[in-house]
Amino acid sequence: MHHFQYRDGELYAEDVPVRAIAKKVGTPFYLYSTATLKRHFQVFDEAFSGLPHLVCYSIKANSNLAILRLFANKGSGADIVSGGELYRALKAGFPPKKIVFSGVGKTQREMREALKAGILMFNVESLGELKTLAQVAKRMGKVAPIAIRINPDVDPKTHPHITTGLMKSKFGLDVETAFEAYLFAKEHPNLDILGVDCHIGSQLTEISPFVEALKRIKIFVEKLKEHGIKIKYIDLGGGLGIVYGKESPPPPSEYAQALKQELAGLDVTLILEPGRVIVGNAGILVTRVLYFKETPVKNFVIIDAAMNDLLRPVLYQAYHEIIPILSKNRPKLVADVVGPVCETGDFFARDREIPKVKSGELLAVMSAGAYGFVMASNYNSRPRPAEVMVNGKDFYVVRKRENYARLIAGEKIPPFLENKSA
Ligand code: LLP
Repeated sequence: MHHFQYRDGELYAEDVPVRAIAKKVGTPFYLYSTATLKRHFQVFDEAFSGLPHLVCYSIKANSNLAILRLFANKGSGADIVSGGELYRALKAGFPPKKIVFSGVGKTQREMREALKAGILMFNVESLGELKTLAQVAKRMGKVAPIAIRINPDVDPKTHPHITTGLMKSKFGLDVETAFEAYLFAKEHPNLDILGVDCHIGSQLTEISPFVEALKRIKIFVEKLKEHGIKIKYIDLGGGLGIVYGKESPPPPSEYAQALKQELAGLDVTLILEPGRVIVGNAGILVTRVLYFKETPVKNFVIIDAAMNDLLRPVLYQAYHEIIPILSKNRPKLVADVVGPVCETGDFFARDREIPKVKSGELLAVMSAGAYGFVMASNYNSRPRPAEVMVNGKDFYVVRKRENYARLIAGEKIPPFLENKSA
């Protein structure tokens, strides 16, 4: 459920016509719905009621400060993967004790920053990282709270680029090595074992891989217990999928029910790190048609957004629905919807049946709230788009469109090139 709906043939975001925002802000821009964000968070969180749990929104999915503040206000925790995300999380007001730090390559600087902030726990992904963290904590006179990320070797049946819980992937540790890591941590005065962590992949549309992973974690937790290691948290990561097109992922209630069943009788708090399922369908990318081009073999709709704004179609062959802002019901045609970037991969849709569109009109690329703006780049020296948040009848620019000066900010011509003869 989201709040981007047609009213009298015109697309609205909550109570605002999308056209009015485009007029004020220009295109392309990302548009987020506050009501949808709130609802998705609430539905997810409430699905786990009755079970001790902490939802740590995965910041990487959409890290705009306004969105982070909204979730922080709702009582969410945060899943971070870099010093930059820690900085954002703290600025947005997440309590440090609700922040978990994931990722295979944390630097010493990032470890120091997170220890200084006093986060809930580090999800550690290798023995090298664990030993480094212990040293860093020792030098600071601190104790680092940790979980080890287990690679449970289950197939999440999703796109290979977003599969993380298979043995051949770079993430986490196999159970044998993880066990060694726990024994090391148990003996180290600067490490405090809090949990066991795992994340098997993203855009999962079935529950069984999650349950399978949890079963394996439970066996592992039992083994730790036999060795005198008590676990307070099981962090199951994120990964629940959404509807982009024809998928039918389970609703959070079913997902939660399955996990609750598995966890019954266990004295642990469940941590979840959802990203996409909360923000994915709460955002769209609004773009304008520049040209319509017919060639002997194909039709092209050329729009003012490009792969630098939304990378998912070319990177994962991802499907995003594309709809006109005005009147959906009209003759259809089959076309490629493409951007202005000089790459064949710069497409939003290929051989797609879409309503016949004219140059100058507005389109919405749906389900763009997760892994949209956060993966945008300046390729082809294109300023990154604006981000706008709707709340009822009002809308706010929550990140202004970049300008040309911003494109070259930080670049410098060295003195030896300053005169023309160099
Ligand atoms: N926790 C960890 C440790 C993760 O690596 C991820 C996502 C999440 C949580 C959140 O997963 P979610 O609930 O959003 O599925 N750029 C790709 C998705 C990459 C996901 C990376 N990790 C895409 O656009 O499909």
